[in-house]
Amino acid sequence: MHRILFVCLGNICRSPAAEAVFATRARAAGLAVAVDSAATSDWQVGDPPYPPMVAAAAARGYDLAPLRARQVGPGDFAAFDLILAMDRSNLAALAAMRPAGNLTALRLFLDGVERIAADEVPDPWYTRDFEAALDLIEAGADALVARLARGR
Ligand code: 4NP
Repeated sequence: MHRILFVCLGNICRSPAAEAVFATRARAAGLAVAVDSAATSDWQVGDPPYPPMVAAAAARGYDLAPLRARQVGPGDFAAFDLILAMDRSNLAALAAMRPAGNLTALRLFLDGVERIAADEVPDPWYTRDFEAALDLIEAGADALVARLARGR
């Protein structure tokens, strides 16, 4: 069982989409996964995902509607095997809260994904480009499924 946490700034656009896309594709590939997502900020805690992202994801077959935003905390480093940040700012915030001595894998979601130039998922809250975010998230999710299926 792989326990994976996806993290972004608000937990209403990128990380809930990554959670839903990865869960769908991992289960289709027969991988046993437990997934969640969380925010580095407390700005949207308790809120559902952002409606334009819910709509864009639904059009691709992913249901974000039941999800609610929560803030990441130090306890998440014990609860998950792998924590994936959507951008470098998220990664820095996570590194700053990592408990001393914790060795949980922490990296950029798009780190090492082939055939894409980016290593960050630009925040669609600001870019308004929900399709571009979902394109990157689907590529990242597929790469992660392939990596886990290979046992890495
Ligand atoms: P996310 O996008 O980090 O992909 O969930 C954001 C959502 C809300 C805000 C910023 C980013 N905000 O400033 O409220």
